[in-house]
Amino acid sequence: MSSSKRGSNTVGVGVIGAGVISSTYLENMTSFPDLRVLFVADLDAERARIQAEAYGVPGHGSVEELLALDEIEIVVNLTIPAVHAEVGLQILAAGKHVWSEKPLALDRRSGAQLLETARTSGLQVACAPDTMLGAGIQTAMRAITRGDIGEPLTATTMFHVSGPEAWHPNPDFLYAHGAGPLFDMGPYYVSTLVHAFGSVDRVSAVSSTARATRRIGSGPRQGEEFPVEVPTHHAALISFSGGQSAQSTFSFQNALPRWGFVEISGTEGTLVLPDPNTFDGDSRLWLFGHEEPTRIPAAGSIYGRGSGVLDLARSLRDGSSPRASGEIAAHVLDILLAISDAAESGQVIDIASRVEKPLPLPESWDPSAATL
Ligand SMILES: NC(=O)c1ccc[n+]([C@@H]2O[C@H](COP(=O)([O-])OP(=O)(O)OC[C@H]3O[C@@H](n4cnc5c(N)ncnc54)[C@H](O)[C@@H]3O)[C@@H](O)[C@H]2O)c1
Repeated sequence: MSSSKRGSNTVGVGVIGAGVISSTYLENMTSFPDLRVLFVADLDAERARIQAEAYGVPGHGSVEELLALDEIEIVVNLTIPAVHAEVGLQILAAGKHVWSEKPLALDRRSGAQLLETARTSGLQVACAPDTMLGAGIQTAMRAITRGDIGEPLTATTMFHVSGPEAWHPNPDFLYAHGAGPLFDMGPYYVSTLVHAFGSVDRVSAVSSTARATRRIGSGPRQGEEFPVEVPTHHAALISFSGGQSAQSTFSFQNALPRWGFVEISGTEGTLVLPDPNTFDGDSRLWLFGHEEPTRIPAAGSIYGRGSGVLDLARSLRDGSSPRASGEIAAHVLDILLAISDAAESGQVIDIASRVEKPLPLPESWDPSAATL
């Protein structure tokens, strides 16, 4: 995208964390005309340099250098979960808005502190997953909202894989406090359920851990063994304040890979949604009395990660609230922590936080348009 196609009110963006996921963010964000990506920072300066140069970003260096740049209004936090809250607070202290990778924080107090600090500073915190804004999930949400399955009642979700150490070169953090299948993959599934049903009011769950250590399967550390600090399987029963319920499993210990399953059933039928960790994909509608499903083709934006940063940027200019809001992320964190607590204690856990069910995006929402 040449700068001549950009408007005069575009939003300056900096990125902290130049690891695996930064490539897809940088590729997309540098193509959105409403954003100007100005700087990449990492504790590892060489990693920041390589990523900045690969995507034509003018600046790279330390977090402090990034936060000192006045032109940067949004900082995209792509660090590991253990420092999401700490880095988020650093960004807010520099007077900048935060886009955070998921989960928002590792505990309720830090998540609440982030939102409260943002509120008192007049800043925004928005948070992944932004797959929720993609054509796949949005088309499904529009189908549910217009009543295709009648009154929504129940859901089943499934994420089962053997584990990410096969492909991630530094997978330790994915088996540490704040990750595991529940916190790493749960946000996609639980966010979809919150978009479909609204707030959760209580959960129960069980969990297990298959192995005490895992072995890295790729990259320079291939063959290295590392400890597993969290359960690698959770099965949860989730009940919503509107009376609906869901059963969800999150697993890094299944030899039979089956992921991306989200089925929502209502009084008239069942909707099979696309994988909530993707931006695209058709839905299928099964109605009572029909032997074959009807395909509902995905309509809307299929731009990937970074779409939520763009939505945050546009919301700063038009005064609306970002759709992948910090409040939804904090509620999702509350649910994930409650599932973890329920499995550990054997108790049913009540959830205090509440959020508004977000309205579906219009089909015409287009990250590639120059609107600012
Ligand atoms: N890898 C994926 O497929 C994927 C997909 C979706 C979301 N995510 C999320 O994105 C985040 C990053 O994942 P990743 O796979 O890119 O991890 P990664 O380990 O590959 O990269 C993280 C980067 O953050 C840097 N970093 C850590 N602490 C920092 C600090 N305090 N200041 C500056 N830099 C710091 C590290 O040096 C590293 O370069 C995680 O929250 C993860 O859940 C990852």
